[in-house]
Amino acid sequence: MKEIEENGIKIIGDDVITKKSNAFYNKDRANERTLNVQLIKLLASKNLIKYGSIGLDLLSATGIRGIRLFLESGVFNDFILNDIKTSKVIEHNLKINNLNLKVESKDARKLIIGKFDYIDIDPFGSPLSYLSAAILNSKLGTILGITATDTAALYGSAPKAAIRKYFAQTLKTSYYNEEGLRILLYNIERIANIYNFSVEPICYLVEKHYLRVYVRLTKYRRKEIGYIYQCINCPNRSFEECKKCDVCGGEMKRIGPLWLETTINKDITRNLSNYLVSENYPYSTYFLKEQNEIAIPWYFTTDEIAKYEKKPEKKLTLYLKFGNPTPLNPKGFKTTLSFKEILSLTNSG
Ligand SMILES: C[S@@+](CC[C@H](N)C(=O)[O-])C[C@H]1O[C@@H](n2cnc3c(N)ncnc32)[C@H](O)[C@@H]1O
Repeated sequence: MKEIEENGIKIIGDDVITKKSNAFYNKDRANERTLNVQLIKLLASKNLIKYGSIGLDLLSATGIRGIRLFLESGVFNDFILNDIKTSKVIEHNLKINNLNLKVESKDARKLIIGKFDYIDIDPFGSPLSYLSAAILNSKLGTILGITATDTAALYGSAPKAAIRKYFAQTLKTSYYNEEGLRILLYNIERIANIYNFSVEPICYLVEKHYLRVYVRLTKYRRKEIGYIYQCINCPNRSFEECKKCDVCGGEMKRIGPLWLETTINKDITRNLSNYLVSENYPYSTYFLKEQNEIAIPWYFTTDEIAKYEKKPEKKLTLYLKFGNPTPLNPKGFKTTLSFKEILSLTNSG
């Protein structure tokens, strides 16, 4: 059996059992797991998770995430690794790393075994069917790391799937990945509410077909959940319910419900960003932008404005006097200004 090494930890792939290719053992996923480790270390230094915590990886595959969090963060006293198919691989991987952690091989939707400080939910596709079990294994303050890869539903390309799975109306927008991020957060909050919890977002990592959020469970508190109204002909959008666009007269379509509050903890993202920059780490520029996030549920892109104006595309830097760049799109900026205001300010000399 072929062994792979990730940050000095030996593993064999779960393809031994699943016969699927090991897409999860590429450099991006390894970097993303490193980020997971660094974030947990930072949360412990800020007392948002205690040293001596117990972790649960509901969908472990090879176990590499739980093993790395256990060995590298210095935060966990114990970590339970579960996977419905690959427990033999996980057991093998624990053995070759001289570790003695508990392995479960249950359906994650039915695994209710304790109250954990950290729970990881990293499925193929939507995480929603695992969230109730995750929350039943949680307590006040539990940190959840949640992945969604069903981006067709979340990003507006599969609107029927979005209604069925996420109870939300979607639209293909220029800010499709922010739309997806906020629909996912709304759904996590909705399920947490059933159990009298709310969630506080800590940070997010959104890549092409991969969306990951970290949230902390708090006491129930009413959150800003609502809608966006988006013109189907031009970049104009609004929080106000409206049928007709006040820029071009086009039809306004409703998107949501979605999460309208901030998607980050500013202090954590600033510290994470400083660390990543100092280590010259792959996500450093991403988090430099994320730490300046403002609670506006969309961004504008330079190309959508150029297309509307029928003029050559202007550089992003020109628009940064109105707001901040977003990590979600190299051509995107976030601003509290309306589309009408952006147009008049960019064309007034
Ligand atoms: C995307 S992989 C997990 C990757 C892993 N967290 C990592 O960082 O490498 C998803 C895993 O979920 C497991 N799985 C799928 N449905 C499950 C279920 N109902 N209960 C438990 N495990 C399940 C699959 O066997 C697969 O190994």
